Amino acid sequence: MKSVASAPGKVILFGEHFVVYGIKTVLCSIDKRITATSQIIDEKKIKIKSDIGNVEISTDSLSTPDRSMDVMKPFLYIAKKALEKSGKNVGIEIKIDSEIPAGIGLGSSSACCVAVAASVMGLFEKLPKEEVLKIAIEAERTIFENTSGADCSVCTFGGLMEYNMKNGFKKINSKANFDLVIANSKQAHFTSEVVENVRRFRENNEDLFASFCDQESILIQNALVSLEKNDLESLGLLMSKNQDLLERINISTENLAFLIREAKKTSFGAKITGAGGGGCIIALVDKSNLEKTLSNLKAHSECFSAKIDFNGLVYTRE
Ligand code: MEV
Repeated sequence: MKSVASAPGKVILFGEHFVVYGIKTVLCSIDKRITATSQIIDEKKIKIKSDIGNVEISTDSLSTPDRSMDVMKPFLYIAKKALEKSGKNVGIEIKIDSEIPAGIGLGSSSACCVAVAASVMGLFEKLPKEEVLKIAIEAERTIFENTSGADCSVCTFGGLMEYNMKNGFKKINSKANFDLVIANSKQAHFTSEVVENVRRFRENNEDLFASFCDQESILIQNALVSLEKNDLESLGLLMSKNQDLLERINISTENLAFLIREAKKTSFGAKITGAGGGGCIIALVDKSNLEKTLSNLKAHSECFSAKIDFNGLVYTRE
């Protein structure tokens, strides 16, 4: 029997970083997925095959993995949890296939944690999405202790949502009809490092950071109204204003700022998405300016268009 699960990547429309300090974020999942396929094997090993590497480890060594396996920690955590919960003395083979490049701010790490949690736990028992989410967040915390949990939430439930650390997620039932152009700066980044830099910035600039949080909150209230009305012109302007705040907390780079300036020439608005310090920018478009924005950005970067995914996590046993 194979247990197959796929979870979408995500973009953050508003509120990255500020969400870690209690502010609401608005995000959506996108139509690019990660699929995890697991099966039970007789050999007492966990075997992982993925684009970011292949790993084999004895089930007896799961509590003490080698440092070279650090990137695989979330998946080893999930495998250990599944074996403990089921009480079975078996091995597990996990294959991960991704349409989302790693480390570019599109939620590949969260989507992987969600897909692997659903697939591996599903070998023994099909869990409700709420429980998959809980395990996925625990797994992601093995490599990124301070995650707000926003990314895993949207990768699990899909669609457009608001999220805050206190109350979790709330679906946004908007008729918003937009496309996004996503451009990759090709600058690698590590979310946990960028989040740590922002923590230091806040420590040294407490009042300023508090005023940015207030501004971000107001901006998000307005964005929710624009989403409700599907008013893309005002939504785009708000995204560009959000970018100004992200620049003030030093998570932009020259390359990202350049791509955003270019994107703003033809789209409704543009900003970094996710941690920043590299990774991707998103530009808000509809049918009227999608092609123009794509061809404009293609001249400077690797880019593609994406739509909102409304399915979230999908999992089955074959
Ligand atoms: C990363 O996609 C989003 C951040 O806000 C971190 C988090 O929410 O965990 C930068």
